[in-house]
Amino acid sequence: MNKEKIGYGQACGKIILMGEHSVVYGEPAIAFPFQETYISTKVEPNITLVLDCHYFSGELSEVPHQLNSVKEVINQTLKTLQQENTTLKVTITSTIPAERGMGSSAATAASIVRALYDYFDEPCTQEVLLPLVNGAEKIAHGNPSGIDAAATSGKESLFFIKGHPLEPFPMNVSNAFLIVADTGIKGQTRAAVRDVARLFEQNKQSVSQHITELGHLTKLAKQAILTDDVHKLGNVMNQAQEQLKALTVSNEQLDQLVFTARKNGALGAKLTGGGRGGCMIALADSKEQAVKIAAAIESAGAVATWIQSLGVKN
Ligand code: PMV
Repeated sequence: MNKEKIGYGQACGKIILMGEHSVVYGEPAIAFPFQETYISTKVEPNITLVLDCHYFSGELSEVPHQLNSVKEVINQTLKTLQQENTTLKVTITSTIPAERGMGSSAATAASIVRALYDYFDEPCTQEVLLPLVNGAEKIAHGNPSGIDAAATSGKESLFFIKGHPLEPFPMNVSNAFLIVADTGIKGQTRAAVRDVARLFEQNKQSVSQHITELGHLTKLAKQAILTDDVHKLGNVMNQAQEQLKALTVSNEQLDQLVFTARKNGALGAKLTGGGRGGCMIALADSKEQAVKIAAAIESAGAVATWIQSLGVKN
């Protein structure tokens, strides 16, 4: 047992600006790491293999099934490191609200892999990290596109297409501010992804039209960002919300916050992530407007809001 060594790992939350759900079907999505929220993992020597986090404290072999993805990523990472028989204490602390469309499960896995690699003094490259995180995501979400793993473990915004090499993308829109708001209700990514797949089976033509349209809107959002057009970006966000509603992944609380944001001057507003709860985002063209929208959304029931600049030119 290495008595001196402590390993540390960190990963942040993520926001999907455009393309959730359609990304599972091969359409592009735009996402960025959300540094305001993060997860840290500490690994230290121990006489047995134990986990200590907000939801559970005890032997790793006894974790409740909701933490199976955590158990799996620890075991798989130890296997990859050829350290299956090592005993450790793995401590996880988080400021990412769980199950709110901010990628907390992927970020948890990424911070664990990083901490274990750090503990064993091995370099943790993206090539090592992403398959391990995606393995955990399969357990947590069923059929992940891989966007959460990529966005929570990197530092740059991404134009992401499932199965393609990662494409960093400059998120740089003058005077643009994104308000992120938490409905306070747990999102249901797994159920929402499964239900969209069921809808697709039942009505291929109409569902594939919504998915194609979401992909098209994501490409328009990319153009809007590259041409520094905040109004166009807001407009495509609003259109995307209509498509996501048609796919049944919004809900009353998200719709209410979207409505309130638009009524208070947001240029665009939509859900972000898996939906059916979780978070929504709204776009403003000044900090003052963003603060006003955030206050209105909180009065309408959001339990937390964050304001993020979308441009280095601001
Ligand atoms: O709810 P989150 O943060 O896990 O985001 C899910 C995004 C989806 O497109 C709905 C699913 C996926 O794996 O891409």
